[in-house]
Amino acid sequence: MYLKTFLIPPNIVKRTKVKELLNSTAYGTEVNLKGWVRTFRNNQFIAVNDGSTINNIQAVVDFQNADEALLKRLTTGAAISVTGELIESLGKGQKVEVKVKHLEILGDSDAEKFPLQPKKHSLEFLREIAHLRFRTNTFNAVFKVRHALAFAIHQFFNDRGFVYLHTPVITASDAEGAGEMFRVTALDFDNPPRTEEGKVDFKQDFFGKSTNLTVSGQLEAELGAMALGEVYTFGPTFRAENSNTARHLAEFWMIEPEVAFADLNDNAKLAEDLLQYTIKYALDNCADELEFLKTRLLDEEKLKPQDERSEMDLLTKLHFCSSTEFERLTYTEAIEILKNSTPNKKKKFKYLIENWGADLQSEHERFLVEKHFKKPVILTDYPKDIKSFYMRLNEDGKTVRAMDILFPGIGEIIGGSQREERLEFLEKRMNEMHIPTDELYWYLDTRKFGTAPHAGFGLGFERLVLFVTGMTNIRDVIPFPRAPKTAEF
Ligand code: 4AD
Ligand code: MG
Repeated sequence: MYLKTFLIPPNIVKRTKVKELLNSTAYGTEVNLKGWVRTFRNNQFIAVNDGSTINNIQAVVDFQNADEALLKRLTTGAAISVTGELIESLGKGQKVEVKVKHLEILGDSDAEKFPLQPKKHSLEFLREIAHLRFRTNTFNAVFKVRHALAFAIHQFFNDRGFVYLHTPVITASDAEGAGEMFRVTALDFDNPPRTEEGKVDFKQDFFGKSTNLTVSGQLEAELGAMALGEVYTFGPTFRAENSNTARHLAEFWMIEPEVAFADLNDNAKLAEDLLQYTIKYALDNCADELEFLKTRLLDEEKLKPQDERSEMDLLTKLHFCSSTEFERLTYTEAIEILKNSTPNKKKKFKYLIENWGADLQSEHERFLVEKHFKKPVILTDYPKDIKSFYMRLNEDGKTVRAMDILFPGIGEIIGGSQREERLEFLEKRMNEMHIPTDELYWYLDTRKFGTAPHAGFGLGFERLVLFVTGMTNIRDVIPFPRAPKTAEF
């Protein structure tokens, strides 16, 4: 279907992305663009988005000379191809627009049935239609930033000579020793083979043993580090913990560097450098997206009481955290601060801090970061009883060389440690914690053959994306979230 006039046959004009057109000054040239209709106003102005930028381009139709049936099909969500002249825009808010000469509907979108309307939808509603939410500005911005951060992470490690190690998704071990695993099996669930004692016989299962989805690639990354020197993983990890919070997912992506001959200080430095590098990268490469997300957050916070609003806007916060040295202190020092804090004395904390040894809850972590230090915090040397079996025991016999990095609005963003490289200490700890040393013989082998000090950490990718985008629910920074009772799409 053609509008009345066109200069050259539209099919010979090559498609240009909207992002490029919006930055072009080649007025008067014939261009082609393809995208989805966001809005169609006054029977004349089509706002088209092709995903290349959060911004739309305006295509102007000469409606008096246009086919009316065609114009009726310009509904929100329809896919179109527009050929026309790039002209300087007289309207406010845009530099260029396209004067339509030829218009083709590539795919109709029934306005009665399409769930996205040109108005603000709640994030909760959009989560229910996650297959379509990419088409909103918010999710366009979020997933662009997510991509940029992933890219920045690879860039960071590549520049430093780290080897990207692909650790297995299916394992037979529990790297964290916390028992929060999803089982992987090919057995007939209704009628599994049984042992003489009546237990399910995993010897007859696909792998000949009981297997699960990995909770962390750390143990395998350690094997790599003990030969390649510096490695990192970046892959999906799975936790069957029943945490229905805005910061937990059952399937999340984790970045786990592991470095030979490094101690806890080196580890903390690497983590701080990584976080600051990636935040800066997003600031430098996602200016439009972050500007949009900053405004989104300001609007969202207007609905909150004054004392719950952030002190800094998104961009200020990102600049601040990417340029300010993180506060470093030990768990023992933090407990003293928390014990004497106003919310603890006034019994405002849900979990009151009474004794050394208490596990820190998110309310405590956020108090330290947001109220006390007002900057990112690295907490080190936790009691061994609240940390995993692989962390190096300190001389005091009570604490381990652990570190957690706490971020404003997030709480724990990184967890890591210097590893216990001394075989007898590691075996003793594993026995105390009922971690099977026979099954993990391969892990212990690194301590038998040329053991060396080493350290590493895990960065929760979605927590980083949450921080940088200023979104408030982790389910809104991964395309298709998996959480308790949630595995749609
Ligand atoms: O503190 P975690 O459990 O540490 C480990 O898994 C270590 N093996 C890491 C290592 O030393 N190589 O998890 C690391 C990070 C947390 O700080 C958090 O950011 C993220 O992973 N994380 C989660 N993110 C989303 N949903 C969950 N359920 C998460 N659990 C942990
Ligand atoms: Mg942790």
